[in-house]
Amino acid sequence: MAKTHATFFCKNCGASAAKWIGKCPACGEWNSYVEEIVHKEKVDYKSTWKKEGNVSSKKPIEINEVVMGTEQRIPLLDQELSRVLGGGLVPGSVVLIGGEPGIGKSTLLLQMALQFSAFKVLYISGEESESQIKMRAERIPFQNNHCYLYTETSTQKIGKALKELQPDLVVVDSIQTLQSDLIDSTPGSISQVKETAGDMIRFAKETNTPIFLIGHITKDGTLAGPKLLEHMVDTVLQFEGDRHHVYRILRSTKNRFGSTNEIGIYEMQQGGLREVSNPSEILISQREEALSGVCIAATLEGMRPLLIETQALVSAAVYGTPQRNSNGYDAKRLNMILAILEKKCGLRMGTQDVFVNIAGGLRVEDPGIDLSIVASIVSSYESMPIDSKICFVGELGLSGEIRAVSRIEQRISEAEKLGFKTIYISKFNKLPKTNFGIKIIEVSKIDELLQFLFG
Ligand code: TYD
Ligand code: MG
Repeated sequence: MAKTHATFFCKNCGASAAKWIGKCPACGEWNSYVEEIVHKEKVDYKSTWKKEGNVSSKKPIEINEVVMGTEQRIPLLDQELSRVLGGGLVPGSVVLIGGEPGIGKSTLLLQMALQFSAFKVLYISGEESESQIKMRAERIPFQNNHCYLYTETSTQKIGKALKELQPDLVVVDSIQTLQSDLIDSTPGSISQVKETAGDMIRFAKETNTPIFLIGHITKDGTLAGPKLLEHMVDTVLQFEGDRHHVYRILRSTKNRFGSTNEIGIYEMQQGGLREVSNPSEILISQREEALSGVCIAATLEGMRPLLIETQALVSAAVYGTPQRNSNGYDAKRLNMILAILEKKCGLRMGTQDVFVNIAGGLRVEDPGIDLSIVASIVSSYESMPIDSKICFVGELGLSGEIRAVSRIEQRISEAEKLGFKTIYISKFNKLPKTNFGIKIIEVSKIDELLQFLFG
């Protein structure tokens, strides 16, 4: 008979101990141990899933002897996902996608499964019934005759199905619903997630089949389950965006096969997720008249130049302490900009409420957006609109100097392509080429910029 006993697991790193400990000796986290019942039984996994011809007895090998180039990436029809993964799907890779409930994780992966028409795909769901998935598939305008559905949560049964079907791609919705018969604790608990993810990863590596795992996230936005899960998989993607906005952003936070700089943008529509290949057009609102407090920044998201609208509202503070509120832009940086405007330009920001917003529900971390934020704030403060054909790029330094940004040429070209007439950049940016079809104004200090804009 199998032995059953209680083990304590660290919620943060997945380390285990025989008794409860206040501070995890492995990761140093306090109060992270929880009790779970474990059912111990020795099983030989390798015999269950191994395809024939796989040699597992490996020896150390010199790096120069390793033969490269046999691993071809699998191209995906979904260009956004393909770019975020680093240019296609690597065989045998395990990708974890996290995101809030209702953001569209199941839709994204079902859509990908249906687009994958040349391959056999197994979509394993522990969350929805076959008819629910079918209903969702009906809304998506793609068809794949080799897409199989399997509503099962036991990894032992899934293992058998995988062996029989031998799919080219597997989607698991979600890892928190899977359970291993060897462990007594409930699905979604640390030991279950660790065990079932381990099973799926072992399958991926042994058979060279790529697997997508959907993961739930906790209240504070991190992936549920042990941090270990993120260490175990090859790629971690985050699907984010406001549920009430139609735009969704796919970002990678870990990628063993590519950079983590790239993002993918989607629009949630009636018929599934639409790729947004030219995001600048949707992020700049169409307006007829120039409005005060609205400016356009030439920023970068990953390697892609992106023109984006920054909005500010400055109004006299009614209460004693002025309010500062920022959406999509770092609140600390906003305070810094306000202090610089007060000190260097003599604007009385201390008596004003200031609200800053980045259009489209995006979060921008590129410091090159500073100049546009400054222009929006002063434009609203002075109630003077800025021409909608002007855009800005530059980072603000503490003494009011405007600093150079990366990839300036790409940003200028994008602004030119979208029909902007003038771009303000830092004087310290070296431009290798000067014959742009857009007027470039170089500024070195914040007061110089305000002089140009507001006289
Ligand atoms: P879903 O993929 O179920 O989210 P998750 O798996 O992340 O919880 O997506 C849910 C939302 O997407 C749902 O609120 C409805 C919306 N949706 C559309 O707007 N159009 C569609 O074609 C589909 C399939 C879903
Ligand atoms: Mg779902």
